Amino acid sequence: MKTITQPDEIQSWTMRQRCAGKRLALVPTMGFFHEGHLALMRWARERADALLVSLFVNPTQFGPREDLKRYPRDPERDARLAEEVGVDVLFMPEAEAMFPDGHATWVEAPTLCRGLCAVQRPTHFRGVATVVAKLFVLTNPSLAVFGEKDWQQLAVIRRITRDLNLPVEVHGRPTVREADGLALSSRNVNLSPEERGQAPAIHRGLLHVARLVEEGETDSSLLLASLGKRYAREMPLGRVEYMAAVDPDQLYPVEEVSGPVLVAVAARFANARLIDNILISRK
Ligand code: PAJ
Repeated sequence: MKTITQPDEIQSWTMRQRCAGKRLALVPTMGFFHEGHLALMRWARERADALLVSLFVNPTQFGPREDLKRYPRDPERDARLAEEVGVDVLFMPEAEAMFPDGHATWVEAPTLCRGLCAVQRPTHFRGVATVVAKLFVLTNPSLAVFGEKDWQQLAVIRRITRDLNLPVEVHGRPTVREADGLALSSRNVNLSPEERGQAPAIHRGLLHVARLVEEGETDSSLLLASLGKRYAREMPLGRVEYMAAVDPDQLYPVEEVSGPVLVAVAARFANARLIDNILISRK
């Protein structure tokens, strides 16, 4: 496995690969790998001639009071795991190389950034969209793979890829979970043991909503009220930041479940903010 830190070096490496007719896959990450990241890499590995993983804790997607400094890091372990799953190139740029002084260009998709996570994190998705667009330009991949756990992020990336005609296939992959249902996240290490015990309630609640829909309930406000009650009971250490039922592509709120609906939640614990979602369709 090759490690590259310089943007111009990754650009010339990927250019050579593409000229040789190779199909490249990119998995963008912020590191501290868990099975969720590794599942994306394994899936991508099988669909390309070369697998590129970027590891970059992107400062532009963290707000001024967010956890950039506390974001967990272990680049040596990450490099070992990447090598084990067959990554060809690990791209690990410095923040100054990606966003040098004077950087002034942003990629935004404002209509997808009004609700859900954007309410509490108003500049988050322009940081994500901008860094992903830069990574696409630098690495020129045939395909790029993202997790459905970060559904709004995936919707924004699909949108900017289409709107800017970026020649990349964007793939979303299902959320990888612990045995008790908690979605894997690099931030789970910041949960206290007691919080960790309560956090699986997030996913259990979403399954409960799916069951209510299966039984015939279609009123989103009733579904979300029932979810809120469960969270208050089963997860007193987590403050629910939002619960929403939205259109899966456009992300606008849906009052009545008549087609596919995404139910998404965010909960704040003392040192970790967790998100999860479930895609529900009426049978
Ligand atoms: P990060 O949180 O490191 O996640 C990297 C990729 O792994 C994202 O596509 C994310 O959706 C996916 N992922 C995270 N947890 C997962 C899980 N439990 N199951 C499946 N996939 C999972 O998301 C980011 O980094 C950044 O915002 C990034 C896109 C790299 C831009 O900086």
